[in-house]
Amino acid sequence: MITVGGFNTSLDKSMETDDLRVGGVVRVRNVRAWPGGKGAHVALTAAALGEPVRLVGLIDSVHRALFEDFLGERGVEFHGVPTRGSVRTCLAVRDGKGRITEMLEPGPEVDAETRGEILASFRALAGAAQLSVLCGSLPPGMGAGDYATLVGEEGSAGRRCGVDTSGEPLRRALDARPFLLKPNRDEAAELLGAAVKSIGEAARAARALEARGVALSIVSMGADGAVACWEGRTFLATVSVEAVNPVGSGDCLLGGMAVGLARGASAEEALRLGVACGAANAVTPETGFVRREDVEALLPRVTTAEVE
Ligand SMILES: Nc1ncnc2c1ncn2[C@@H]1O[C@H](COP(=O)(O)OP(=O)(O)OP(=O)(O)O)[C@@H](O)[C@H]1O
Ligand SMILES: [Mg+2]
Repeated sequence: MITVGGFNTSLDKSMETDDLRVGGVVRVRNVRAWPGGKGAHVALTAAALGEPVRLVGLIDSVHRALFEDFLGERGVEFHGVPTRGSVRTCLAVRDGKGRITEMLEPGPEVDAETRGEILASFRALAGAAQLSVLCGSLPPGMGAGDYATLVGEEGSAGRRCGVDTSGEPLRRALDARPFLLKPNRDEAAELLGAAVKSIGEAARAARALEARGVALSIVSMGADGAVACWEGRTFLATVSVEAVNPVGSGDCLLGGMAVGLARGASAEEALRLGVACGAANAVTPETGFVRREDVEALLPRVTTAEVE
């Protein structure tokens, strides 16, 4: 069982246009919308691999049935904490050159009572899981230190907790020494104040995170794969695919790694599964979804090499 805290639920929307002109009228096509947010992506990935998973996130009354049905049908037990504001929409627009522009709303304002309910729901469910993960942004009204608080509590209880977020919540979560941390290259660069462009720089970043108390640090590098550090060793894992939409690949990597770890796999096996899931997301047009058959086909093709 995995517990996912992805509190800032969103409705993910994707669309295409030939030319995304700033300040102009932009007509779009192939519009799709589905329940999303980083937590949903992580949880759906775990569920696609057959792992029992619970997701804690905000939900408004208008969208509750949609989220419960959609996630439930795919094997995710959704624990929606009611909010009076509307869940946010996250927009991904692909232009004629294949570039993707994302527009991310901040999410509804959360009052003290709702914040307390979210934290209590996560605590109760994390205690019953093999592993928990906290991912995505925090809605306005939650504290930048809320992930750090939960990470600290999980660590004190001897349970493994992973984090994938950015900015101040990431900085604070790192100080609480999470079991797992998965920044992408930009998030790692901002966190550490160092360039993370090459594999060598990613390896340095992953080691720096380990030195600050992260047992398993992963710096994801998009099509270049993922660099992970644990027990003083650093590995690069990659698999080459024809990418259609890599948005959400980091979430799927985290979901795959969480499944591996919850099932008792080694860190290297979990990394391979995570990288297969990240790539499996990239080959489908949907954001933050994997098909089990794609993951199974990609897994034997993932290569890992130790980075000196
Ligand atoms: N084009 C690609 N080809 C192969 N693998 C990919 C590709 N894009 C992503 N991946 C895999 O997915 C992992 C995560 O991707 P990435 O580094 O883009 O995450 P991210 O920036 O956190 O994404 P998001 O936050 O949108 O989920 C990579 O480390 C890699 O293993
Ligand atoms: Mg990410």
